[in-house]
Amino acid sequence: ETVDLADEDYQLGEFPDFMRKEMAEQPEAVRRALRGRLDTRFATARLGGLRLDPRDLRAVRRVKFLGCGTAYYAGQVGANLVEELARIPADAEPASEFRYRNPVVDPDTLYVAISQSGETLDTLAAVQELKRKGGNVIGAVNVVGSAVARECGSGVFLHAGPEVSVASTKAYTNMAVSFAMLALWLGRVRDLSAHHGTRLVTAMQQLPEQIASILETDYEVAAIARKYAHAKHMFFIGRVRGWPVAREGAQKLKEISYVHAEAYQAAELKHGPLALIDAEMPSVVVVPQDELLAKNIGTIEQIKARGGPVIVVTNADLPDGLADAVLRVPRNEPELDPILLTIPLQMLAYHVASALGRDIDKPRNLAKSVTVE
Ligand code: AGP
Repeated sequence: ETVDLADEDYQLGEFPDFMRKEMAEQPEAVRRALRGRLDTRFATARLGGLRLDPRDLRAVRRVKFLGCGTAYYAGQVGANLVEELARIPADAEPASEFRYRNPVVDPDTLYVAISQSGETLDTLAAVQELKRKGGNVIGAVNVVGSAVARECGSGVFLHAGPEVSVASTKAYTNMAVSFAMLALWLGRVRDLSAHHGTRLVTAMQQLPEQIASILETDYEVAAIARKYAHAKHMFFIGRVRGWPVAREGAQKLKEISYVHAEAYQAAELKHGPLALIDAEMPSVVVVPQDELLAKNIGTIEQIKARGGPVIVVTNADLPDGLADAVLRVPRNEPELDPILLTIPLQMLAYHVASALGRDIDKPRNLAKSVTVE
């Protein structure tokens, strides 16, 4: 998909702003990202644009995701997925740090440069640094023909369609979905079983419908947003799978509502920031139905015991009255939870910003793509 400003897709139509339109487009965007890439027969995914055969995939010893802002958080989701499904070490780093720190470039690492616009200067510079040192770098880019896509030569296009709002929504979701496919592919040439692969393929096919059902909870999310829109600060708390979700939720709230939001790993709270909790400091806690559920319930209790209001975003069965407000998402395979759990946080940020009368598509001080130092 190319970005053409004269394209009809750029019309707002029934929507009040582009962020809302782009959030609403997520089911369709995910369908496009999945199209032709899932293989039910072999219980795997295949990303043709990477031009990697099974032998190349087996040679990958480590995966490193590089991007800025929301693209970096999507990279963290990707790194978790690669470690979980392929059992090879993976991490994410801001491209803006990587480019300046004379990085050690390892020939057996697959580097993934992530960018919606493909024009972010820091991400482009990271790719150039990698290429100069002989690194193996692929792109995960939305805009075809953009600088990062051209510089990488091969990669996975996100197929999110045009994204106009400064706050990235559907591009983030398609990044995470693309990395789930990459992780499945890397896993299936290793030890991930066909049974597990089939579960994930089926789970990915369910995502568009599930995202659509989350978008239908808009009325409830808006009511919660209005209740907390007066807050001066908010915490976003998560651990492991929930951690990049918390970071992306905080990022969305900051950039469009100007409410100060800080993401924190759940277990780190007691090492300092718990001191900030009081009735004026709501916490949004990301609670997947996974093996860490009891730990996350413990975190919520610690916050409540200090008088802090708690909003949970969850697909788990939680004790009645545990949280002050609940943003609910459907269940799927736990590995895919970060994709679904992020959607209500986009909606929450959107409704806080609109309750505060912000210019949603064009927040102050920000540009859609940062092409300068
Ligand atoms: C997202 O909501 C932000 N506007 C910002 O963090 C953005 O994701 C970042 O600047 C990277 O942009 P890119 O994906 O176009 O490279």
